Amino acid sequence: MTPPKDIVGTLARSVSNSLNSSPSLAFHSPPSSFRNAPPGSFTDGRTGSYAGSSPAASKQLKPFNTKDIKVLLLENVNQTGVEILKKQGYQVETFKGSLPEDQLIEKIRDVQVIGIRSKTKLTERVLKEAQNLIVIGCFCIGTNQVDLQYAAQQGIAVFNSPFSNSRSVAELVIGEIIALARQLTDRSMELHQGVWNKVSKGCWEIRGKTLGIVGYGHIGSQLSVLAESMGMSVIYYDVVAMMGLGIARQVANLDELLDQADFVSLHVPEKPETKNLIGKKELEKMKDGSYLINNARGQVVDLAALVEAMRSGKIAGAAIDVYPNEPAGNGDYFNNELNTWTKDLQSLKNIILTPHIGGSTEEAQSAIGIEVSQSLVRYVNEGATVGAVNMPEVNARSLALDENFVRVVYIHRNVPGVLRQVNTLTHQHNIESQNVTSKGEVAYLLTDISDVKEEEIKDLFQSLEDLPSRIRTRVLY
Ligand SMILES: NC(=O)c1ccc[n+]([C@@H]2O[C@H](COP(=O)([O-])OP(=O)(O)OC[C@H]3O[C@@H](n4cnc5c(N)ncnc54)[C@H](O)[C@@H]3O)[C@@H](O)[C@H]2O)c1
Repeated sequence: MTPPKDIVGTLARSVSNSLNSSPSLAFHSPPSSFRNAPPGSFTDGRTGSYAGSSPAASKQLKPFNTKDIKVLLLENVNQTGVEILKKQGYQVETFKGSLPEDQLIEKIRDVQVIGIRSKTKLTERVLKEAQNLIVIGCFCIGTNQVDLQYAAQQGIAVFNSPFSNSRSVAELVIGEIIALARQLTDRSMELHQGVWNKVSKGCWEIRGKTLGIVGYGHIGSQLSVLAESMGMSVIYYDVVAMMGLGIARQVANLDELLDQADFVSLHVPEKPETKNLIGKKELEKMKDGSYLINNARGQVVDLAALVEAMRSGKIAGAAIDVYPNEPAGNGDYFNNELNTWTKDLQSLKNIILTPHIGGSTEEAQSAIGIEVSQSLVRYVNEGATVGAVNMPEVNARSLALDENFVRVVYIHRNVPGVLRQVNTLTHQHNIESQNVTSKGEVAYLLTDISDVKEEEIKDLFQSLEDLPSRIRTRVLY
């Protein structure tokens, strides 16, 4: 095996506004998806040590000093994520909060990578200043704090972590099902007020009851497994036909589910079709004395109609975690000014109201830190865009020890003829693999070429930069 070469100070510095980096140990890290991480990977959720991140025997080139990669992490990104980035040798600067826009602009000019949560707004105005930025990590679920389209047009990939908290939500629902069936929160509130009220009427075991899951995706399917193991029979309705886990059974339509389920739990995305998915009509179709649980999105249930259905006794209990309007921060904001029916909801018996905490656990935060950081590392080191929300998805295969390839990443405008132009420029080298995908106006070309001498890389880079379709060029070697 040829020993790693260090040509820092030559090419890495001579090519400005681009990034020369290397396939490094991240090539061989576990897949970025939390779902695929090996069981027991999270050795310590508090310290963030990640057993799964140790490198396998692999090609570990370090042809540039990884200290050249500057990372800015805002809003107290979980330590698990910070550690992964530091282990790569990147220069990582962390801040507990977000930064005022002028300070943000000052800082962002200098970095290749930024990690944020929901408070930092990466608008076109801010991103225009981010001349060196190649990738944004949203260490959260949503990405609407980033101007995704503008970022893509600048060749800046954006990653998030949409599914790291699925298990947390599913577990909460299990807790809610039992709590509702036993009227647990009412009994607890009564005793807090000194009232001893020992009752069994209207309190049930969940064993043998039917759970109807609406939306059998990441959360719905996790819930299905947990509920079955508690002795429930599970039916589900999803717009996509899919095989149930265990003995869970898909039903043909929502009405069939509402007709059969003792507990209905909603796990659909927010879309025009899911607005008021459960309204007056649907509540009427539910079984008498059944329960409704919504941990999905606030718009999915007509809460005014739910108030009526609970007052009439049709619905025996409900757990609501999400609302059409939610306060921006913690405080006593949950009132009628926010949503007109708030007081009515609060006055009901056997209703669990929680402040959008379905996915809020230490484990979820830790998993988000790992998933997003791994995506960032894979993008910086190997050019893989799998999981990016604003870029065409291209996976990058690991290189074997004896594969001395140069990897060219050419992000370009999605216009005809680009592939031919790129291949003309690389024609004297052997193309080992090539992958091009487009998304809207942006296309992403990743190609591995061999027989490239070190002294040829700069010219190759420059010739790609000179193409009219160019958004951003990166050469990884
Ligand atoms: N309460 C919280 O803190 C919290 C945390 C995470 C996710 N969520 C929300 O939970 C919901 C589900 O998340 P997920 O990760 O399981 O999503 P997912 O995308 O993995 O699954 C959603 C499923 O719903 C199905 N679906 C879409 N439209 C439907 C319709 N009209 N009827 C029936 N099925 C439909 C899809 O086919 C998919 O299988 C989302 O709305 C998400 O925002 C809430």
